[in-house]
Amino acid sequence: MKKKVLLMGASGSGKTSMRSLIFSNNPASLTSRLGATIDVEQNHVRFLGDLILNLWDCGGQDAFMDSYLTTQRSTIFQHVGVLIYVFDVETAEMHKDLEYYRDCLDGLRQFSPEAAVFLLVHKMDLVRDRGAMFERKKKELMEHSEKGQGPVLTSITVFGTSIYDESLYRAWSSIVHTLIPNAAVLSKHLTIFAEACSATEVVLFERTTFLVIATSAAPPAAALEATRYERTSELIKAFKHSCSRVREEFHALEMELPEFSAVLDEMTKNTYVLIIVHDPTIETAALKLNIRMARRKFE
Ligand code: GTP
Repeated sequence: MKKKVLLMGASGSGKTSMRSLIFSNNPASLTSRLGATIDVEQNHVRFLGDLILNLWDCGGQDAFMDSYLTTQRSTIFQHVGVLIYVFDVETAEMHKDLEYYRDCLDGLRQFSPEAAVFLLVHKMDLVRDRGAMFERKKKELMEHSEKGQGPVLTSITVFGTSIYDESLYRAWSSIVHTLIPNAAVLSKHLTIFAEACSATEVVLFERTTFLVIATSAAPPAAALEATRYERTSELIKAFKHSCSRVREEFHALEMELPEFSAVLDEMTKNTYVLIIVHDPTIETAALKLNIRMARRKFE
């Protein structure tokens, strides 16, 4: 099962940086060394079992963009599952960006009208009033998205992102989520597993990217942070990077604090599971045993 993901946007908007952060274990500080992408760089990322993401990072210089929209048009826009279009929030050439974006939407309407579209207003760390800026950009982008001709694209979602905080993980988790065929079933199994462990919450992460694949049914919102999933992804990725710098491999994590305990361990070949428990009578050893026993079910 191969799903094609197109990553597009103007040159310098940050496409290759986010790809290297999410799919390789690189820190944000190294992205300034990346060169411009020439034409299209294709990557296959085995995501979950037999779900393979076929990521096309499309270099954003004008000459390349023009060729995607003309001679390479059918090759680029065929069989697309998701189009991710990246806009540099501080660009001086928004007008041109929007024109290219509209042309790309037309290509998508022509060859992959079922595709989901994600718009990332990127480098949000550079603006001061993030909330207001995001709303303004979102409105502008949504207005432009409706202008093309042909079938209406059903799903367009806008995120504000930055490689310097967890917002990038939130957006990409959501993107990947649309590609996972059995996400609802996974959620159901995780809810049952959470109940069996008397856990507050259980979260399943993909192994290399540490993006959230599914979670148990949301517990009563009260004490839990809304950004907890993406912050965990970001923290674990940073921790894995530190491990690799001292030539150690990350395997598992265990925490026992007065307020809660947590276990993060391998679930299957491609996933990690995180169990959060607020009941002090439950031992982390018991949680680990439960993970071991649940493995077969999740393979
Ligand atoms: P092409 O390959 O030419 O299409 O460009 P690209 O879109 O792949 O841009 P690239 O990833 O090479 O990033 C360009 C520059 O933007 C790099 O110097 C990155 O460090 C910087 N950058 C990427 N993401 C962010 C971000 O979230 N915030 C800030 N401040 N800078 C970023």
